[in-house]
Amino acid sequence: MARRKIVAGNWKMNKTPSEAVALAEELKPLVASDDVDVVFCVPAIDIIPVAEAVKGTNIAVGAENMYFEEKGAYTGEISPAMLVDAGVKYVVLGHSERREYFAETNETVNKKVLKAFEHGITPIMCCGESLEQREQGVTMDFIRQQVKVGLQNVTAEQAKTMVIAYEPIWAIGTGKTATTEQAQEVCAGIRACIAEVYDDATAEAIRIQYGGSVNAATAPELFAQADIDGGLVGGAALKPDFGKIVNYK
Ligand code: PGA
Repeated sequence: MARRKIVAGNWKMNKTPSEAVALAEELKPLVASDDVDVVFCVPAIDIIPVAEAVKGTNIAVGAENMYFEEKGAYTGEISPAMLVDAGVKYVVLGHSERREYFAETNETVNKKVLKAFEHGITPIMCCGESLEQREQGVTMDFIRQQVKVGLQNVTAEQAKTMVIAYEPIWAIGTGKTATTEQAQEVCAGIRACIAEVYDDATAEAIRIQYGGSVNAATAPELFAQADIDGGLVGGAALKPDFGKIVNYK
């Protein structure tokens, strides 16, 4: 069975609540699609108003992070139950910016992935190499470790429903998209890793996105690759172009 494409916008630390509602309203008609799952991953404070604004549309709301404890003395953190109650269906976990600036590790990402599943939130687990790692030829070793540790104790049934986003760090926010061949090669490598950890059926079911300077011009070729099931989009998700990316065909 063909995997359904999933295109998610990662708004990062952009848009106040009122600006977020205005953007959601602007994008709503542009991202209408029967074929592609569409997700707006927005700053925590924008989740409630954006969820309200997109009610009744094909757009799902996602968070950009989440804590791995249920509740308690964790000042500043947001729990999975809070996200669920606010209408969140997806959560981006282990984005390279969180790894770089907020000390996220494969181990904390794994705890978050497990906790998201406990609450019925679909994880979009990010992985990706630095330019240095690519040049050293260790891209796939590094990513296999991120994926394997990130998925520890995740069952095959759970893994089948989740999303992995391959985002080479050197392509994020740089305007330098990976070539179609580079993106396909790593996404195929991730799928092979899933087959090793689980089985072929799980590898066939899991959806793998490419992310890193995706735009309306590069999306069609990237999303046509055998192992690329859509994209995680930063900068271009804040513009009307996001509609073109969703409707890339
Ligand atoms: P970009 O960001 O599309 O602006 O490169 C992608 C991401 O970080 O998810």
